[in-house]
Amino acid sequence: MKIIAGNWKMNGSKQALKEMTAELNKIDTDNAIILCVPFTMLGAETGKINLGAQDISNHEKGAYTGEISGAMLKEAGAKYVIVGHSERRQYHNEDNDIVRQKAEMAIQNGIIPIICVGETMEEKQAGKAMEIIESGVKESVPNNSNGHIIIAYEPRWAIGAGITPTHEEIEQAHSLIAKTLHSLELDETPILYGASVNGLNAGDIMSLNNVDGVLVGGASLKPDDFISIITSIK
Ligand code: 13P
Repeated sequence: MKIIAGNWKMNGSKQALKEMTAELNKIDTDNAIILCVPFTMLGAETGKINLGAQDISNHEKGAYTGEISGAMLKEAGAKYVIVGHSERRQYHNEDNDIVRQKAEMAIQNGIIPIICVGETMEEKQAGKAMEIIESGVKESVPNNSNGHIIIAYEPRWAIGAGITPTHEEIEQAHSLIAKTLHSLELDETPILYGASVNGLNAGDIMSLNNVDGVLVGGASLKPDDFISIITSIK
């Protein structure tokens, strides 16, 4: 079984979600389909499609204007939440420490965190990609995870860029993540690849070793594009 997750980022509308899920529900598949949508769209009637959020507070409750807690996300219907996405790390200065606290909050509330790790172009060029990926996993995965987490490898330089790492590079990163998860006794954790996934490259990427699915940005916004990714599973 593969996991195909969409990240709508700050895009879409309730109507667009209704149209997307109507199309997705027509697909006959045993694979898991998740759409991580803006907070305001959680709670929609989506049939067999699971909804996730894109962020969660690292605090339980209290005077944190603008934040959304794990309990609120659960009440709103989120089954998953993306934590530590590259854009949160870049624009909101989130580091592995905060990401781990957020993942902890998700787990405490029965929500599966999709923990994102990945290197910037600067880190890649400095030969530090593997180090960043390994420390990303070690420092962002909470102790209470109990197997209820998903890791997404998102090379930050390839997000929205229309380019992907080579298949060898993806396998190398995923193998390191699998090895690191093994050392944490979290062997069953699914590892997704994300960054510039489309209907043409998804099938091959999902056939690579240790790739259990994909996390899709831009191509998850249009039913035709997202469906071509889902149906490309070999
Ligand atoms: P793109 O698929 O648009 O490159 O975005 C990837 C991403 O950020 C998914 O979380």
